[in-house]
Amino acid sequence: MNFKALAQKYKTPLYVYDFDHIKSRYNELKDAFHARKSLICYAVKANSNLSVLKLLAELGAGFDCVSIGEVRRAIMAGAKKYQIIFSGVGKSDDELKEALENEILMINLESEAEMYRLESIAKELNLKARISIRINPDVDAKTHPYISTGLNENKFGVDITTGKKMYIYAKNSPHIEPIGVHFHIGSQLTNIEPIIEAAGIVSELVRELKALDIDIKFFDVGGGVGIVYQNENNVSLYDYAQGILGQLSAQDLTIVCEPGRFIVGNAGYFVTSVLYEKFNKQKRFIVVDGAMNDLIRPSLYGAYHDVNVVGKNTSAGLCDVVGPICESGDFLAKNLNLPACESGDLLVVKSAGAYGFTMSSNYNSRARAAEVAVQDGEDRLIRRRESFEDIVALEKDLM
Ligand code: LLP
Repeated sequence: MNFKALAQKYKTPLYVYDFDHIKSRYNELKDAFHARKSLICYAVKANSNLSVLKLLAELGAGFDCVSIGEVRRAIMAGAKKYQIIFSGVGKSDDELKEALENEILMINLESEAEMYRLESIAKELNLKARISIRINPDVDAKTHPYISTGLNENKFGVDITTGKKMYIYAKNSPHIEPIGVHFHIGSQLTNIEPIIEAAGIVSELVRELKALDIDIKFFDVGGGVGIVYQNENNVSLYDYAQGILGQLSAQDLTIVCEPGRFIVGNAGYFVTSVLYEKFNKQKRFIVVDGAMNDLIRPSLYGAYHDVNVVGKNTSAGLCDVVGPICESGDFLAKNLNLPACESGDLLVVKSAGAYGFTMSSNYNSRARAAEVAVQDGEDRLIRRRESFEDIVALEKDLM
């Protein structure tokens, strides 16, 4: 990847995505489940750029969406509606209505209250809503607490007893059709045992539901497969897929999974230019033109992202890489050994393809970065850099 040429052409800060890498990650995962019917529903929240979604739609992916905005993005990018899933703990009436009208594959319910809302909306529209229910299996995913979702203390899903009650209600409702079961215990899982344990618990529930004549067709294991940022364990997709399939034994189910980070995380680079290098009494800082508004993971989760200085290898000692935002929490890396830098040098922050641009903001009235795709050796702009005009567009005529 020629970051220097890309930075010259598109300026910085800049997100660059390797589309060939995205493609091969999708194919790897699809292949891991080849022995069974499977549907890979890419989690749009990880990176929702329309060109990324289009690439995945062309490969046959479905999409896991958590707002009607994400559903619209998926459809706009060419997704097949019957391959779209709509999840999330707080869907509004308007969102549920639009999802029903679009006849997506299924709506993933996260509470009893939501089921009754959906039922009455489906009744008004004279439709039958295909649903799955998100089960919280109370399994510890052993990941960062902010991205762990499968414990009783988390807001997501319903416990098994409530779930069973909901399935029985749904089966008897003329406006709801239960077709799937869902769980997602957390993100950036580098140990797959908790997912397999959860799959076992939920598979037992499916057996009980089938005995009650509730015809579950889709077994959705959520996302969460972790990636290597630093020195994490490389998850074996073979073990992941076999572990899950092993819990299903002879049941005839289509496996659905909702990977986000696994597909796009390592494919993305955040490219930023050095403004200055400065020293205070205790520390060395490299001040760059990218900031926490562009990539918030280090500030929010203490996440590690590897950083390279383009064309330089000799370390000049420990430093923090910081942005121009007025917060001490505005850093992209802490205590890294990096070469001496001068104004104009380029820093490449790695593994920034997931939850990078999608979590960016206009804090400090900073325009969001441009996004570029590189595929078969060719680069192309897939989101233009925001301008000041873009930032004030929704306010300036209302002063
Ligand atoms: N399915 C559901 C229901 C989810 O809640 C999530 C992520 C996924 C799938 C995709 O998970 P993945 O395969 O990407 O791990 N902003 C955080 C991650 C939050 C994940 C939220 N849910 C981060 O930057 O680490």
